[in-house]
Amino acid sequence: MLVSAKDMLNKAREGKYAVGQFNINNLEWTKAVLLTAQENNSPVILGVSEGAGKYMGGYKTIVGMVNGMIEELNITVPVALHLDHGSYEGALKCIEAGFSSIMFDGSHYPIDENVAKTTELVKITTEKGLSLEAEVGSIGGEEDGVVGAGEIADPAECKRIADLGVTMLAAGIGNIHGQYPENWKGLAFDALEQINAVTGTTPLVLHGGTGIPEEMIKKAISLGVAKINVNTECQLSFAAATRGYIEAGKDQQGKGFDPRKLLAPGFEAIKATVKEKMELFGSVGQA
Ligand code: G3H
Ligand code: ZN
Repeated sequence: MLVSAKDMLNKAREGKYAVGQFNINNLEWTKAVLLTAQENNSPVILGVSEGAGKYMGGYKTIVGMVNGMIEELNITVPVALHLDHGSYEGALKCIEAGFSSIMFDGSHYPIDENVAKTTELVKITTEKGLSLEAEVGSIGGEEDGVVGAGEIADPAECKRIADLGVTMLAAGIGNIHGQYPENWKGLAFDALEQINAVTGTTPLVLHGGTGIPEEMIKKAISLGVAKINVNTECQLSFAAATRGYIEAGKDQQGKGFDPRKLLAPGFEAIKATVKEKMELFGSVGQA
């Protein structure tokens, strides 16, 4: 059964580790993440962007697929199905479709509008027992059509949003979607420290988890981060493994056409990446 992310994240914040949100794109992705979570006895959050939702055939299709896998693959660790960087309309659709967790990304609105829309969604999600993530500041780079300026979040605005009763808060702290450039300045820990100081015990969310060095991940967790989002890194490992398999001629020199065989190396690569992240985030054994 799908669960809200609330308990798993409060527990993570308290225990000084983070739960990974791994974005999914298809059946193989979903199965790889769920099986890895189960094998490592780790709670997990499956992230679905609006673009990926459309690609997979719609939110109800995804809910059906994930619920079916949880039952038939005997997944007993806590699993939340979470809309990633959702619009207000997307959030309502996912609630209706049966998602257990929602991100409303109102970071591109003026703060008063972000507060107003987040307030409405706090009411709706609380009534239904779902978890809600909000965003302040912005994440740099681009993810699935969501483009951000990389604006460092204002602690006072973070407090306003946290005080609405959101389950978790994503704050822009110099993090970027996609691969980090060579000249990246690193995470703005002074901002994170101030945000953590004024947002009480609200679990903080670190987006752009791909390629952040280990020491920064650990420091972020020590400053209240309890959820870390990873998307690009699974895509990179999937693509490299698939390309390697074909280029090495292991697909019977281009004559192999069984999709289950063609997708198998990428599937294993996603599993390895997810396991590595769960170990780094400290969520192994915490289910
Ligand atoms: O919302 C999803 C993430 O923030 C993932 O970022 O693609 O850089 O790992 P990433
Ligand atoms: Zn993100």
